[in-house]
Amino acid sequence: MNYSKYFNSIFIITIVSLLLSCNGSDKKEKLKGLKEHADFPIGTAIKIKTLSKDEKLQKLQISNFNSITSASDMKMNNITPKEGVYSWGIIDSIVGYAHKNNQRLFGHNLIWHSSTPNWVKEKAAKDSLWLGTFMKEYITKYVTRYKGKVAAWDVVNEGLESHGGNVRKTMWYNALGKDYIAKAFQYAHEADPEAILFYNDFNIERDTLKLNSTLKMIKELQAKGVPISGLGFQMHIRMDTPNEVIANSLKKAVKTGLQIHISELDIIFNKHDDTRRGGIQVYEKLTDEMKQEQAKKYKSIVKMYKTIVPKEQQYGITFWDFTDRDTWIKGFFNINDWPTIFDEQLEPKPAYFGFLEGLKEKN
Ligand code: XIL
Repeated sequence: MNYSKYFNSIFIITIVSLLLSCNGSDKKEKLKGLKEHADFPIGTAIKIKTLSKDEKLQKLQISNFNSITSASDMKMNNITPKEGVYSWGIIDSIVGYAHKNNQRLFGHNLIWHSSTPNWVKEKAAKDSLWLGTFMKEYITKYVTRYKGKVAAWDVVNEGLESHGGNVRKTMWYNALGKDYIAKAFQYAHEADPEAILFYNDFNIERDTLKLNSTLKMIKELQAKGVPISGLGFQMHIRMDTPNEVIANSLKKAVKTGLQIHISELDIIFNKHDDTRRGGIQVYEKLTDEMKQEQAKKYKSIVKMYKTIVPKEQQYGITFWDFTDRDTWIKGFFNINDWPTIFDEQLEPKPAYFGFLEGLKEKN
């Protein structure tokens, strides 16, 4: 037997298996999941039907996130599609899923112009007093039913115009006046005094007028003793939304002393005008360079959140859908885009690793 050949091959086999095992543990480290690397909750919004029929998606959801928001099922048009009808079934299943997997359940949302069912609009048009009574009943019934199970609510979603500082003239506003916002918070608080109650809106990370107006409204609510406890930045941003502008907005917002939630994070390459089907396709293809740029942007967002928002105000970062396969952006704005951290095949993108790096890096 040629001993030197024998020892050489043993040596090579050992080195190769060492390398393989290092690589393996490295992979495991990466696959440990985002939530394992964060000291604040990491959440995702998702359509519960999509989640329930896809095991691979469930595995990714469970390993990466410890907070869950339903992307649609908890909105008013799904809860009470017809007068006198309340459908709680799907929400009960979300509650079960969150409990089983040790996840915080975030309630999105109580009052939003865009998910107000037609039957409510029609009745309100005839009788605005009725709308006031309905709002109280709806919030009280809903929040009481899930008391202790839903940790926090977006009580009012998008109460201001898309751009600028004006209040949105929704049916709620027209019928009940600006006070509908304060009342909604009051009713939610009475139903569950422990729940964290958010005002949630978009464009406030980049539109200074809109942010200032939001902060002014929050100050007024706080001065009146309205039980508001959090501000949600939806954070549907674009690659060209400047980081400095986002950072300044967060700096202003933390002064409210409220919990700050990045509540609907995604980052698009293309453009839209904030309206349904209002997308403008600028990029046809996602190149490697674009993927790397997006990774940097995701990393910057986490780093800003960690450095600007004090520990005790960090309610967490929530993605709005977490795969490019399921993202709401494509259908809603009618464009092709790649806004999330997993690709169409549910594989982690550079964006995922950028976000992860941001979580891991010391400030
Ligand atoms: C979106 C859902 O993801 C879509 O499935 C639905 O068609 C429209 O609403 N801001 C919000 C969310 O507050 O409720 C929206 O969710 C996305 C924008």
